[in-house]
Amino acid sequence: MSAPKLTVHAQPEPERLRIFDTTLRDGEQAPGFSMTPAEKLEMARHLAAMKVDTIEAGFAAASPGDKQAVHTIAREIHGSTICSLARASESDIDAAAEALEPARRSRLHIFLATSPIHRQAKLKMSRMEVLKAIEHALTHARGSFDEIEFSAEDALRTETEFLVEALSVAAANGADVLNVPDTVGVSEPAEIRALFEHLTSSVERPEHVIFSAHCHNDLGLAVANSLAAVQGGARQVECAINGIGERAGNCSLEEAVMAINVRPDIFPVITQVDTTRLWPASQMLSRLTGAPIAPNKAIVGKNAFAHEAGIHQHGVISDRRTYEIMTPASVGAPGSELVLGKHSGKHALAQRLQALGYELDEAGLAEAFRAFKDLADMHGEVTDADLAGLMEGHSASGSAWTVLRTELRCTAGPRPTQFARVELDHPERGRVSDIAKGDGPVAAAFGAVQRITGADADVSALETRMVHSATGREFIAEIEVDVHGRTVRGRARGPDIVTAALDAFLFSLDRADALNSANPQSQPAAQAG
Ligand code: KIV
Ligand code: ZN
Repeated sequence: MSAPKLTVHAQPEPERLRIFDTTLRDGEQAPGFSMTPAEKLEMARHLAAMKVDTIEAGFAAASPGDKQAVHTIAREIHGSTICSLARASESDIDAAAEALEPARRSRLHIFLATSPIHRQAKLKMSRMEVLKAIEHALTHARGSFDEIEFSAEDALRTETEFLVEALSVAAANGADVLNVPDTVGVSEPAEIRALFEHLTSSVERPEHVIFSAHCHNDLGLAVANSLAAVQGGARQVECAINGIGERAGNCSLEEAVMAINVRPDIFPVITQVDTTRLWPASQMLSRLTGAPIAPNKAIVGKNAFAHEAGIHQHGVISDRRTYEIMTPASVGAPGSELVLGKHSGKHALAQRLQALGYELDEAGLAEAFRAFKDLADMHGEVTDADLAGLMEGHSASGSAWTVLRTELRCTAGPRPTQFARVELDHPERGRVSDIAKGDGPVAAAFGAVQRITGADADVSALETRMVHSATGREFIAEIEVDVHGRTVRGRARGPDIVTAALDAFLFSLDRADALNSANPQSQPAAQAG
């Protein structure tokens, strides 16, 4: 008797999902996330090493600084396609072409709103005029870029039949990627999946054209909606590290990528992202922008792999898989086996710092190495958290001003007043001190700093907390400051609340100066969500 035949059903090859990173455009334009061109370049280097398919480096027509940043990234970064955003206008498209000129592979991202509310209230254009503008913009752009993407801004609130028409016009005129943004974050997974199923079967297009999702997080659904769009046929997802972006942000890159990695049974696609760079990318962005990461943030929060409860700890000790669906190592999170101590050399430190997202020059590394040795002498083993703390202090000490002395005085009585006398040192101005009054000791100290530096700044948020670090009890201050209409963030550590707050304040004033000289004419009105 012959052996029974086995029928093997071949699994279809998973399709490639393109990751389009917009940390440096949609993310960077959100209040408090501005970066200097040098900071954008540092971030872009990491994104390219992480192998995102496309880096949206900025919006060339928005300001000379943004154009310069796109140009520098296009010149310096290889491996990923470099993209600039543009409105559907000839001058925007020309600015993007100039900025992208040195790119190995360039992409133009044209957007035009299609929804009735945007057509009527913002554009004052009829449907026909919108279609004509799409055709005109694509015709003007064709031939000047390696790829063109068209976004129907506010697609989720656009009449479906008009959206099909607009996307078909874009595809007929040379768009390679059709992006369907949920600009206001109003959709939900079932709706957006159905929309993508409909669009992929109804929009007329050449075979190579793919659909893309760009979801905002106003209802906390950006990642769920992006993944649902993938199930509906999207083959590009637009996202940002730590989910930064306009208002409540964009789809978080790390969450979308790891959901796809962890659940291949549900998402039949693969990305080429090196996931071990996710945690370092998140740390790098937080360091560059001064914006903290929520401890419970999925994938990259400091609690994402922490187990406090006894039952959980017991389970994890027996077998990590009881409570972990991915390993810390798979996302490059601390918990690595590498232990640094007093016998470790500069090379090992540099490697670990790089893996944690800190790129230092010679002098920075030498300084970090000295601080690391002191720490290792005191505590033997130096953990990733110790290193992050050490680097936070390191990066916050970049201000031109140094605090030499702070004296606080409080009058007694029914209406106490607080006075602060602060003495600062500056490489050119030397030692300067001043006194100010405030409704609290920290406010008074800020007032004195403002009198010394001449900064016109308004503190919109200040949070301080105590931490137990390897060196003892310390305070972390996180601050948000509005300086001439620009929101900047700063963070610093110190031995007491006032010192930490003052360092964070000085750090953010310096950031505002750096951003203003890099990009003096930034026009928020020209930005897109
Ligand atoms: O949210 C949005 O619609 C955008 C477009 C420019 C793609 O950011
Ligand atoms: Zn957006």
